[in-house]
Parts: sequence; structure tokens; C-alpha cells
Amino acid sequence: MRYSFRDDYSEGAHPAILKRLQETNTIQALGYGYDPWSKQARELLKSIIKQPQAAVHFLCGGTQTNLVAISAFLRPYEAVIATQLSHIAVHETGAIEYTGHRIIEVPTRDGKLTPAQIEKVVAVHRDEHSVRPRLVFISQATELGTVYTLEELAALRRCCDALGLLLYIDGARLSNALGATQQTLAQIARYADAFYLGGTKNGALLGEALVIVNSALQPYFRYHLKQKGALLAKGRVLGIQFLVLLENDLYLHLARHANKMAQRLAEALKQKGFNFLVPPQTNQLFVWLPKEVVQKVRSVFDFHVWIEEKERCCVRLVTSWATTKEMVEAFLALLP
Ligand SMILES: Cc1ncc(COP(=O)(O)O)c(C=O)c1O
Repeated sequence: MRYSFRDDYSEGAHPAILKRLQETNTIQALGYGYDPWSKQARELLKSIIKQPQAAVHFLCGGTQTNLVAISAFLRPYEAVIATQLSHIAVHETGAIEYTGHRIIEVPTRDGKLTPAQIEKVVAVHRDEHSVRPRLVFISQATELGTVYTLEELAALRRCCDALGLLLYIDGARLSNALGATQQTLAQIARYADAFYLGGTKNGALLGEALVIVNSALQPYFRYHLKQKGALLAKGRVLGIQFLVLLENDLYLHLARHANKMAQRLAEALKQKGFNFLVPPQTNQLFVWLPKEVVQKVRSVFDFHVWIEEKERCCVRLVTSWATTKEMVEAFLALLP
């Protein structure tokens, strides 16, 4: 089988997570998130973000988290502002729209959304004859692997406050963004009304930790979870995993490893003269390769072709917590 740089969820789970699942396997515990590990994980996350009043819920995947959270936060006539590359706009099968909420898409080159774009959207949605923009959706890191700086996040927060909008951060790869910068979870929590910390793409078997910082959005959230099939009787499976990820900053160590592998790839690709769609920052690289090179490398490695042109392709290379140096070097060895 070809070695995959297709995504960061091709492997199972980090051994420390499997070990804890096994150690706790025969211990009986309450279901639906009332088990002791889920409780500990929730408390630990709240202490890390220094927001004791926050509400933490564990869900299975990114689409599910976005869907349950966003539909819970909005009134029937309210809409989301997001980039045209955002996961909810492109890769979630209309899940948000299915709940009756429009996604107002704005163009982006680097995966980011700007306050000016938000202001423009709000300015043209003036009255009850159109939907009411209410929630700004961004991803940190973005779908192109880029990272909002703290200044950019602060500017988005100010813009949302001025316009009465909620700021929601999709953190499927939040650990990679933190690992690539000096940013902390506590800082992210200060800017967001709600965000999630991804586990699926960072060493968990599966799972995302949704943090609802804004207390106005917290009441009855478990009803939304249950009604949408996201409140697991075996909630312990998620709680145990997040406890292990959060203890001793494992989430950061794993993300830093993934980023380091990507950095090695990026540096060597740059040295060989290849160009990138956007400057590499985290564990996703978007690199332009001539078609004959793509063909050659593809016989040994699997990856996603993001853009296909006549003579070249932009391919997406993703590294993970489990990517080995050997595989990175083997990939590079195939390049001219
Ligand atoms: C930024 C982002 N959000 C959400 C998701 C959705 O995750 P899932 O496939 O677990 O539903 C992904 C998956 O790739 C993603 O990259």
C-alpha cells in the first residue's frame, strides 16, 4: 500500500490513548458524559483556558460539532458568514443549510476572513427581507493551513462586537495552529464565543472538544446534542481520550511533531525550487509540482490533488502525529 500524505487521520490513535482506554476498560462508569474521566477532562480544559464558566462538550467529528453548535446558536432566520473555502461551505454536504441557515460565502486567497469583508456582508443585509448575518465562522488553522495572528483574531473580535455577531472558531487543527505559533488555548478562548479543539486529526481515535465560552449560548445545549444524535451513552470514550490529550500538553506535542515533519518537507521543496499556493505554516502544504513529478511520486505515495492545470498540479501534503522522518525523506528522494 502507498504511504499516505493525504490527511492527518489515516492512522488510529496515539498509544497513550489506547493504553488509557485499555486500563479503564472494565471500570464501570455512568454514561452520557457523567463518567469521571469526562468530568476531569472538562475541568482540565476549563482550567487550561482559564474560563471556569465555560461549558465543554465532547462530540464525535468536525461536521457534527459545527452542525450541532451552529444550529443551536442561531435563530431560524440567522445566517453564517464564512469564506468560500470554509469546511462548512464546501465539505459538509450542506449540513448547516439543512438546518435552515444560509452560509454567506466570501472570497479568500489565503483561507482567511477579514473584518472588511464581514462589514460589507452586514451592510447589504439590512432588514427582514434578507437573512440576518449573526455568526462568523473561521477555522484556525484555516483550510489552507494558514494561521490567523492574534492581531487578526482581535480585529475579528472587535468587528463582531461592533456588529453584534458571534465568533465561532473551527479548531479541527487548532493544535497545529498553536504548535506553529506562541498562541495558547486561553487566548483563543478569549476571542471566541465558541470554538472546538480537534482530536480526530491530532492523535485521538476520534473526537472534538467543543467549548462554549459565551454563557448566553450554553443553556440546554445537551438537548441539542441529544436531539441530533451527538450525546453518546459511551461518552467515556471521548472523555478518556481528551483527558490523555490534555494531560502534559500531549495535544501540543503531537501537533508540533506533525508541523515539524511538514516543515522539513516544505524546506526541502523550497530548496528544490518548488512554489507554494500559500506560505506553509502548519501541517498542510499546498505545493505546485509538474505533472510528470506528480505521476512519479504518486506511484509510491498517496496525496490529494487540490488543483489540476495543464502542466502542473497543486498537491496537498498533510503530515500527522504519526508521520515518520523516514517517510518524509523517502518522499523527498523521489523529487528531481
Ligand atoms: C477545518 C475542518 N473542519 C471540519 C472538518 C470536518 O471533520 P469531519 O470529517 O470529522 O466531520 C474538517 C475535516 O477535514 C476540517 O478540515
